[in-house]
Amino acid sequence: MAYTTEKSKDLFERALKVMVEGGSSPSRGPANYGEYPLFIERGEGAYVYDVDGNKYVDWMMAYGALPLGHAHPNIVHAVCAAASKGTLVAAATEIEIEVAELIQEMVPNAEKIRFANTGTEAAMAAIRLARGYTGKPRFIKFEGHYHGWYDDFLVNAHPHATVSLGHRNDPIKIAESSGLNRRALDDTIVVPWNDIVALERAIETYRGQIAAVITEGIMANMGVIPPEPGYLKALRELTRSNGILLILDETVTGFRIAAGGCQEHYGVDADIATFGKALGAGLPVAALVGKSEIMEALAWGGVLHYGTQNASRVGLYAARTCLRELSEDDGAAFEHCWEIGEALAAGLQELFEETGTPAIVQGVGPMLQIMFTERPAIRDYRDFCAYVDRGKYQRFAWALFKHGVYMSPSAGLHSVSSVAHSEEHVEFTLAAARKALADVEA
Ligand SMILES: Cc1ncc(COP(=O)(O)O)c(C=O)c1O
Repeated sequence: MAYTTEKSKDLFERALKVMVEGGSSPSRGPANYGEYPLFIERGEGAYVYDVDGNKYVDWMMAYGALPLGHAHPNIVHAVCAAASKGTLVAAATEIEIEVAELIQEMVPNAEKIRFANTGTEAAMAAIRLARGYTGKPRFIKFEGHYHGWYDDFLVNAHPHATVSLGHRNDPIKIAESSGLNRRALDDTIVVPWNDIVALERAIETYRGQIAAVITEGIMANMGVIPPEPGYLKALRELTRSNGILLILDETVTGFRIAAGGCQEHYGVDADIATFGKALGAGLPVAALVGKSEIMEALAWGGVLHYGTQNASRVGLYAARTCLRELSEDDGAAFEHCWEIGEALAAGLQELFEETGTPAIVQGVGPMLQIMFTERPAIRDYRDFCAYVDRGKYQRFAWALFKHGVYMSPSAGLHSVSSVAHSEEHVEFTLAAARKALADVEA
């Protein structure tokens, strides 16, 4: 049967009458998907199905929020059972302690835990906590790192590739939204990533004013860019020796790369770490974790952090199930995700080499990104802007839809493997990629 997305098109026309850009996030609209987005009806295991009945092997997995795949039976059961006893109590519950205990067992620096709902909220709380605890106003973030849509983070998160970024010794600050608090531009110090000298320089320039450095452990929002060997440890030493807190944003890497995230994988010890996405296995659960002494600053009368929906029962039952599944058999789930992710990355790279396509597949285990580039590696956001053909990637991702594979059409957004993926899905995807590549080249 010919591939058609007519029902998605009709729904988009209807959606435009009630929602700006037809939806609730620009990344789900035409900016990424072309004329109109695919409307997804359901997900099951490694697959999503759109409203026209097309079936796709899904490597986006709700931007990485589904480490167990779609509608995992144990998650569905946990959610239904929890909801039947009340969807929200907004009061102290035992499940909150249980999930905090599980996190404490898995995550190296999690001496104390606070729950929130989204990665953005957790990162907002982390920055406020760092400011409150140190009494210093500014913080350092890295070019191309995304920590959510809060004012202070929307500075050089993913400025458009054609905008001048300035010299790497003195990056030009770029506000990515209208309406930002102007103070955000002052207080947020921007530094290129994977460059310890640049970080040293910024710390020197703003000596005595910096509360924290916030970093993704693996850059995941402008292609997958791993830290250079030793970089995270050097960053840790530099922050510690200068009395600056290290906030590790594990929204993407947490409960994905390893049980203890990048802290475990790279042997770094953060003061504060933030989690979201995978933690809730599809429900909005996020967490802020850290050293007791620092976290205690969140006590009443200190640094405020509220939320009616914080530690929502239903979400925490899903989180408990998810963390237990991931911990079973000595972390076999992580091993599986690594094997699948690496097999997909290797197969795609082989395909590009065999067909003479200038492209690389960069990744770390379960996270990977296809980049159409002549370069052998992309090591920071500047490389990404200068050398990656985003338009070609977008055309390739759209062509993949036609051949039954769902990857984000945004060139900066990575793919992930999950417990639900198998070798069969890898083989299917490689065959689809071969056809999609031919379509794009044609
Ligand atoms: C590294 C990182 N931090 C924070 C966030 C924000 O998380 P949320 O979308 O749950 O607010 C994201 C979202 O993609 C992210 O990738």
